[in-house]
Amino acid sequence: MKFFIDTANLDEIKEAHDLGVLDGVTTNPSLMAKEGIKGEDNVRNHYKAICDIVDDNVSAEVIATDFDGIVKEGESLAKIDDKIVVKVPMIRDGVKALKYFSSNGIRTNCTLIFSAGQAILAAKAGANYVSPFIGRLDDIATDGLGLIEQIVNIYDQYDYQTEVLAASVRHTMHLIQCAEMGVDVATCPLSVITGLLRHPLTDSGLEKFLADHKKNNS
Ligand code: E4P
Repeated sequence: MKFFIDTANLDEIKEAHDLGVLDGVTTNPSLMAKEGIKGEDNVRNHYKAICDIVDDNVSAEVIATDFDGIVKEGESLAKIDDKIVVKVPMIRDGVKALKYFSSNGIRTNCTLIFSAGQAILAAKAGANYVSPFIGRLDDIATDGLGLIEQIVNIYDQYDYQTEVLAASVRHTMHLIQCAEMGVDVATCPLSVITGLLRHPLTDSGLEKFLADHKKNNS
């Protein structure tokens, strides 16, 4: 399973990359706003800076919601760097744009997926990734991981090229259960990636090893 970090914060992206486990990055307009990135030039420069850090790809989301606007914005974002994947919302014109982009060699990530039907539609339209949001479904007392399992099972039965990119991953168990289901990519905050490091038996075990070494060498 690939690890993407879900942030537009350059320090966090560098930290995950330096850990040696980062494949790519996903952003969204809220994450860009959180970093105070505004204005076309600043947005483009920021995406370029992210692309310069990561090895795999970087999802950059369009703001337009009409077909012509999505195509124009997506084509422009794709020109920033070969690593850019255009993130398109699951709306009617978004589906049409996914088809256009896939026919024109531009990679896409279809975002805001909350049902299996939407995931099927995105795959049929040629999306490279679908992003089902686990945490936001959990937030409304709906089984987010259940949706992931459903999509993985459906895609397994066909030769869709679309990869399942589990999004809105809020904690380590989300990530581990995604891995158990054979999800292609999980995108999550830095805290979820570093959360995988922790185990109290690792901490107490290391403390004992170091104490015994010190005793033996004093
Ligand atoms: C997906 O690409 C989104 O950016 C993201 O995972 C949403 O997560 P949230 O529900 O924690 O905001």
